[in-house]
Amino acid sequence: MNIIDSLKWRYATTDFDSSKKLSDEQLENLKKIVRLSPSSWGFQFYKIIVVEDQDLKKKLLPAAYNQSQITDCSHLFIFCSYKEVFESDIDKLIADMHETRKNDKDYDEKGINSYGEGSKDIILKMDKAKQLEWLKKQCYIALGQLMVGCAEMRVDACPMEGFKNEEFDEILDLKDKNLLTAVILPVGFRTSKDKYQYRSKFRKPSKDLFEDI
Ligand SMILES: Cc1cc2nc3c(=O)[nH]c(=O)nc-3n(C[C@H](O)[C@H](O)[C@H](O)COP(=O)(O)O)c2cc1C
Repeated sequence: MNIIDSLKWRYATTDFDSSKKLSDEQLENLKKIVRLSPSSWGFQFYKIIVVEDQDLKKKLLPAAYNQSQITDCSHLFIFCSYKEVFESDIDKLIADMHETRKNDKDYDEKGINSYGEGSKDIILKMDKAKQLEWLKKQCYIALGQLMVGCAEMRVDACPMEGFKNEEFDEILDLKDKNLLTAVILPVGFRTSKDKYQYRSKFRKPSKDLFEDI
């Protein structure tokens, strides 16, 4: 499948067919795709909640300005950023990195430890507001990768920032978990009534997008 065709096929779906659900295999593949997202330092300081439960979706609906994608999608991916990074978060990731790489031919135990120390020196010393801004950006990288993956799999999706973050956090009980909702992605299958799929794709012309210097 040609990636350009996939990206032309995709659009921000506003009308999902609520009777159509992802298969278990499709869901597993989407999870694999998002898990493979790159992130700064490779640390993925976020968690992803996948909501399928219709009652929970209904609770979230008003907090998303009643946008019907929330309840009509098959699965709702919710990208939750860490609110703050603690030394213990990095220690855990570094321990996992040792575990993953310990049988590599060029396993560099000392190198991994100094990578951890170097990252602490930068990440833990960040101003907290800057750190949070940086943490949320990591969620958007994962969002982008998942959206492209959806398109390749011919699964529809709609990236959404149009929701009240604090209300989502409350409903999802994130307050005491060092997590906050950054961005969401309902996924599923379009209806033929969704008019947006028929509109010509509007993007900046290349000459305006790419800056000559
Ligand atoms: C970060 C982000 C947030 C968005 N939030 C919403 C939203 O809350 N509701 C919605 O219907 N569309 C939302 N969109 C969809 C955009 O309007 C859409 O992607 C854009 O108009 C380009 O159209 P296309 O994705 O169909 O090609 C969002 C898109 C992005 C990337």
